[in-house]
Amino acid sequence: MATHNNVPFCKWWISVITILHFTQTLSQTDNYIVHMDLSVMPKAFSGQHHWYLSTLASVFDVSNSSTGRARAATLTAFSKLLYSYTHVINGFSASLTPSELEALKKSPGYISSIKDLPVKHDTTHSSKFLGLTPQSPAWKLSNYGEGMIIGLVDTGVWPESESFNDHGMSEIPKRWKGECESGTQFNSSMCNKKLIGARFFNKGLSAKYPNLTIAVNSTRDTDGHGTHTSSTAAGNYVEGASYFGYANGTANGVAPRAHVAMYRALWNEGAYTTDIIAAIDQAITDGVDVLSLSLGLDGLRLDEDPIALATFAAVENNVFVSTSAGNEGPFHETLHNGIPWVLTVAAGTLDREFDAVLTLGNGISITGSSFYLGSSSFSEVPIVFMDGCHTMSELIKIGPKIVVCQGGNDSNDLSDQVENVSSANVTAGVFITNFTDTGEFIGNGFPVILMNLKDGKTIIDYIKSSNRPQASAEFRKTTLGIKLAPSVTSYSSRGPSASCPLVMKPDIMAPGARILAAWPQNIAVDLNNSQPLLSNFKILSGTSMACPHAAGVAALLRKAHPDWSPAAIRSAMMTTAETMDHTMEPIKDLGSGKLYPASPLAMGAGQINPNKALDPGLIYDVNSTDYVRLLCATNFTEKQIQAITRSSSTDCSNPSADLNYPSFIAYFNAKNSPSNLTAVREFHRTVTNVGEGRSTYTVNVTSMSELKVSVMPDKLEFKTKYEKLSYKLTIEGPALLSETVTFGYLIWADAGGRHVVRSPIVATNLSPGLSSRN
Ligand SMILES: *[C@@H]1O[C@H](CO)[C@@H](O)[C@H](O)[C@H]1NC(C)=O
Ligand SMILES: *[C@@H]1O[C@H](CO)[C@@H](O)[C@H](O)[C@H]1NC(C)=O
Ligand SMILES: *[C@@H]1O[C@H](CO)[C@@H](O)[C@H](O)[C@H]1NC(C)=O
Ligand SMILES: *[C@@H]1O[C@H](CO)[C@@H](O)[C@H](O)[C@H]1NC(C)=O
Ligand SMILES: *[C@@H]1O[C@H](CO)[C@@H](O)[C@H](O)[C@H]1NC(C)=O
Ligand SMILES: *[C@@H]1O[C@H](CO)[C@@H](O)[C@H](O)[C@H]1NC(C)=O
Ligand SMILES: *[C@@H]1O[C@H](CO)[C@@H](O)[C@H](O)[C@H]1NC(C)=O
Ligand SMILES: *[C@@H]1O[C@H](CO)[C@@H](O)[C@H](O)[C@H]1NC(C)=O
Ligand SMILES: *[C@@H]1O[C@H](CO)[C@@H](O)[C@H](O)[C@H]1NC(C)=O
Ligand SMILES: *[C@@H]1O[C@H](CO)[C@@H](O)[C@H](O)[C@H]1NC(C)=O
Ligand SMILES: *[C@@H]1O[C@H](CO)[C@@H](O)[C@H](O)[C@H]1NC(C)=O
Ligand SMILES: *[C@@H]1O[C@H](CO)[C@@H](O)[C@H](O)[C@H]1NC(C)=O
Repeated sequence: MATHNNVPFCKWWISVITILHFTQTLSQTDNYIVHMDLSVMPKAFSGQHHWYLSTLASVFDVSNSSTGRARAATLTAFSKLLYSYTHVINGFSASLTPSELEALKKSPGYISSIKDLPVKHDTTHSSKFLGLTPQSPAWKLSNYGEGMIIGLVDTGVWPESESFNDHGMSEIPKRWKGECESGTQFNSSMCNKKLIGARFFNKGLSAKYPNLTIAVNSTRDTDGHGTHTSSTAAGNYVEGASYFGYANGTANGVAPRAHVAMYRALWNEGAYTTDIIAAIDQAITDGVDVLSLSLGLDGLRLDEDPIALATFAAVENNVFVSTSAGNEGPFHETLHNGIPWVLTVAAGTLDREFDAVLTLGNGISITGSSFYLGSSSFSEVPIVFMDGCHTMSELIKIGPKIVVCQGGNDSNDLSDQVENVSSANVTAGVFITNFTDTGEFIGNGFPVILMNLKDGKTIIDYIKSSNRPQASAEFRKTTLGIKLAPSVTSYSSRGPSASCPLVMKPDIMAPGARILAAWPQNIAVDLNNSQPLLSNFKILSGTSMACPHAAGVAALLRKAHPDWSPAAIRSAMMTTAETMDHTMEPIKDLGSGKLYPASPLAMGAGQINPNKALDPGLIYDVNSTDYVRLLCATNFTEKQIQAITRSSSTDCSNPSADLNYPSFIAYFNAKNSPSNLTAVREFHRTVTNVGEGRSTYTVNVTSMSELKVSVMPDKLEFKTKYEKLSYKLTIEGPALLSETVTFGYLIWADAGGRHVVRSPIVATNLSPGLSSRN
């Protein structure tokens, strides 16, 4: 475009736009991500961007070649082109009518296209809970992640938040190519040595809704989610942080000396994949070390999932990618981002509870869970027992009393009851429940207290035995050291991954329940008697909160081990993860109704442990050739694989469904097979010795019911550092497993157990896959 004379060009441009707006109403346009085969690009083009423009222009000027019309067509193409991508795909995105798309399909070099899709986005204490203290090796050896750059694609950032102050930050790395873009209420001077990049992407959204006005067209966060996730990953130290008195203390991110770059592609007005992959494309160009993506798309094949495509390019460019598993648990096959080249993160609890104390008229004090944000406490208020609080007409007759409800043993029933009582204009609600994953029900402006069954009985007995039952309530107590922690939250999405069943997902668990992190000063965190409640910090729950924790840990590991690949970092996190909780019992699953040990399909390899991950002993490494071999082993067509690898010549001569991954999933799901039929599943793995030179590892496999598990050889003798040795895991069992999920662990340990390298093994009779779904 440099050859154009600027002035007439601009005039022309405006008239073309005007015509477009007129014609847009005539035929339905949509956004498409278009894959092109770069190998057929004519040499005459100086770069792919010009070729894409010219290809688009030919669609608008199919057969007329007069100079004027050609230029008009080029201008039309220019306005219809949303993004021309550099890394994430070979291709571009454009806003096209169905007939324009059909014409484009006939263009030389066209491979395939996918329609744009809407996307939803799924502290003080959490870093200490992960064992991060000034004395801990993960912070010492990485110098708190100094010099690392964590990029986030999210809702933007609130630059004035104290978590983004740059006290103690090192200079911006010279290699950084990012920018701090100005926009509505956002001035480029708002970045500093902590927040080093701020860019925003909404061409796709704007093309989808041409009449849309974007209220705050800049990186300024108008939602809060991005401020929260970015400060979780790399927020600076803020003393005296708290949320209405809860979780008080010094707040900081997992990598407090890492830099933050925010790429805003999630808008209050909507979010589209064209914008999200443009953000990832730019983050790769800018030079981020780690990407944190607390978002995802459900129910798509890998080659149709723009997040999978874009992250393949990111990982090829040596960027570590952390993603959220989703919040659709506790059912199997609900997980998104089950992508072999990223880290997929599940959400676990912290050892922190927020409490209230209820003191009955007879003097007995009982502690329950509460997260009331108002400032009131209540003294000697009448208390009544209502059993199941389902009848609004009865509830609204109660008036200024504390209401006690019971029977909400599952999350739906409990939330119904809480909602009823909250809207009944009573003083407070006490809910007796055995539901243990209560985090979602107690964060509001109405005073709610949750009680377990035993304490509930004490309350009911008192009410029934007293002629004038009354109680007092005090709120805002924070209790640390809760023993049943960590455990898997019930909402955390479960594997297996429908888009790639061959790889066990999720990979790991990180804190995601009731995480305190920075929040925009002007966005209400909740309402109290219809008045907005404001706070500089907010407590949120979800895998969105777990993902940036893992991104922060990745920044620490990358700083400490600059030569490790993204797969090596992931392997170190997974093989050193904790499978035991603070009581030294197996980590529990809060979604299983009863407190059963969590399966790897819920928590991956276990709870992330940054200090151990620094020194894993052995690494399961994977490079892009290995990922392509995996894709070749699935029945993806060459075109589908090409869309992912962006390479016109995919070598599928050596397919392998057996990715060198630090976990295992075996399917014993042959329906209608004779009951005595047995099946054998084999896995081959190669480990790299990243510990000291000479060492001997011996294997130990936990028993798995119904299955015979063996490892060959059972001893690995390394002579040098970086030496690679291989082994084979064999699992033999009934062709159709009687249990839905059976699991165990394969453990390589060196002398004295200095390094314990643990891999989860899952055997299942599930048959995940997208084809079986719809
Ligand atoms: C080229 O454009 C002219 C004028 O707009 C039109 O009359 C003619 O039919 C076009 N030619 C073709 C082959 O479409
Ligand atoms: C940006 O902020 C600085 C400092 O507040 C101010 O001097 C400057 O004029 C602002 N620039 C713009 C473009 O608003
Ligand atoms: C967009 O604006 C145009 C012109 O004002 C109008 O004709 C059209 O109906 C609007 N479209 C939508 C979807 O509101
Ligand atoms: C948002 O701002 C960018 C550049 O600052 C501009 O190009 C774009 O047209 C704006 N979008 C909207 C919807 O106002
Ligand atoms: C947090 O608040 C409690 C009282 O609510 C107080 O005892 C404690 O010292 C505070 N902790 C910090 C770190 O400020
Ligand atoms: C919930 O648990 C209580 C106490 O065990 C029991 O009485 C009640 O029937 C249960 N409610 C439901 C809906 O299962
Ligand atoms: C709620 O109760 C208070 C006093 O108990 C009363 O003044 C008020 O009108 C009630 N509000 C509604 C909406 O019923
Ligand atoms: C809660 O109570 C219900 C019904 O009594 C029971 O089915 C469920 O297993 C209990 N949940 C836990 C976590 O104890
Ligand atoms: C990946 O590793 C294999 C050996 O394990 C090697 O042959 C291949 O060239 C590597 N691929 C890349 C892209 O580095
Ligand atoms: C398995 O069972 C079938 C009948 O269901 C029988 O014919 C066959 O011999 C059995 N095979 C073995 C190995 O026991
Ligand atoms: C294997 O693991 C089990 C359970 O963790 C343990 O009891 C046993 O001692 C281990 N065996 C060896 C040889 O390390
Ligand atoms: C693989 O093949 C099966 C059977 O032909 C088909 O149902 C499924 O959709 C294919 N999977 C992919 C990923 O193309």
